[in-house]
This record gives sequence, structure tokens and C-alpha cells, in this order.
Amino acid sequence: MNTLRKNWLRILTHVGAVTPLAWLLWDYWFDNLTVNPIQDITFRTGKPALILLVLSLACTPVNTLFGFKQALPLRKPLGLYAFMYVSLHFLIFIGLDYGFDWGLLYEAIFEKRYALVGFAAFLILLPLAVTSTQGWMRRLGKNWKRLHRWVYLAGILAVIHYVWLVKSDIREPLLYGAAVALLLILRLPAVRKAVTNFRSRFKKGRRTRTVVDSI
Ligand code: HEM
Repeated sequence: MNTLRKNWLRILTHVGAVTPLAWLLWDYWFDNLTVNPIQDITFRTGKPALILLVLSLACTPVNTLFGFKQALPLRKPLGLYAFMYVSLHFLIFIGLDYGFDWGLLYEAIFEKRYALVGFAAFLILLPLAVTSTQGWMRRLGKNWKRLHRWVYLAGILAVIHYVWLVKSDIREPLLYGAAVALLLILRLPAVRKAVTNFRSRFKKGRRTRTVVDSI
């Protein structure tokens, strides 16, 4: 019971991250995919990829805003799961959709601007996933943090990918865009400092009030 209480957030993260894939495999196995199965599985790998990427970007601001340190260790598993879904998403595109026809793929990626920015996001996430180990953190030292800041650009490109691929209603992609923009603004040193100062003032105020009330 104690383990569950200590690790509930980590367990929830793993269960939540694998559920879309398990559900997709279930639907594939029981033939529940839509009439356009390739588009269905492309969507059902793309969406979790974007959600997990946004959640991994949310961990640091959640700690800045609420002092919720338990969110920090989730950046890595969330980032790696996002990369897992992006890799599946890309494999579906190059393998199932284009049958590994490199000529056609070259045309598709460089002609469809949404595929090009999606590919750029993938090329950024690849070295971040490879260097997510303790060994690479030690090897790269200060450069590790510099390298992993590229995830910000990957987040922006993933949103642009989504905005450019939807035919008509761009409200949902714009919502993801607003979320990514907010999470990046909260990282700006001046904003971060202001939020931290506000939080400590708020805490001090509450403590004073408690002391006054107890007199
Ligand atoms: C590796 C290069 C990528 C390629 C070639 C690619 C290709 C595609 C294609 C073909 C679609 C479906 C378009 C349609 O049928 O209308 C799609 C949808 C999508 N992709 Fe990608 N994608 C790539 C990378 C990414 C990345 C890195 C992310 C996010 C991290 C992502 C997230 C999405 C999302 C959210 C959708 C829409 C899902 C929905 O509407 O439910 N893709 N992508």
C-alpha cells in the first residue's frame, strides 16, 4: 500500500501512456478500426504523441506554479512515451501508407508542408530520446540541458503540424498551441521569477494569518 501511495503518479503516468496503444491494438485485433484503418491508426498515434509531449513540457511549470516537485521526474517517461508514439506514427506513414517507397516518400514529405514540419519535430525528438539516459547526461554535462531545450521547438513544430493538417476546424490544434505557448512563457526567467516570488509571498501571508488566528 505504501508503494502505491509513494508511486501513484508514476503508475498513473505509465498506465495512462500505454492505454491508447493497448486500445489501438485491441481495436486492430477485434477489427474495430474505421473504414480507413491507416488514417485511423495515424490519428491514434499522432494525438497521444502530442498530448504526451505537451504533458512532458508541463512538468516544470507545474512545479514552478504549485511547488509540485513530484511532477519533475515524469518529464523523462512522458517524453519517451511521446517519442514512442511519434516513431509508430512515422513508421505507419513510411511503411503502411507509402510502403517504404523512398521516391514517393521524398515527394510526400517535401510537398506536404504538414509532413515536413512533423518530420522536423521527429528529427529533434530522436536525439533527445537517445540521450535521455543517465550515461548521456554525464557524458554531455552542461550541453545536455542545452540539447534538451530543443524540445521547445519540437513542441511548436508538432502544433504547426497539427494546424496545417486539419482541413477545416482548427480550434483543437489552436488549443494545443495555446497550451504550448503558455508552458513556454512560464519558462521565461522573468515570468518564472515573478511566479516564484508571488508564491513565496502568498505562503508567507498565509503563515502570518495562521499565527495571527492562533493568538
Ligand atoms: C515524423 C513525421 C510525421 C509525419 C510524416 C506525420 C504524418 C501525419 C499524417 C499523414 C497525419 C494524418 C493526416 C490526415 O490524414 O489528415 C498526421 C496526423 C497527426 N500527427 Fe503527424 N506526422 C509526423 C510527426 C508528428 C509528430 C512529431 C507529432 C506530435 C508530436 C504528430 C502529431 C499528429 C497529430 C496530433 C495528428 C492529428 C491526429 C488527429 O487529428 O486525431 N505527428 N500526421
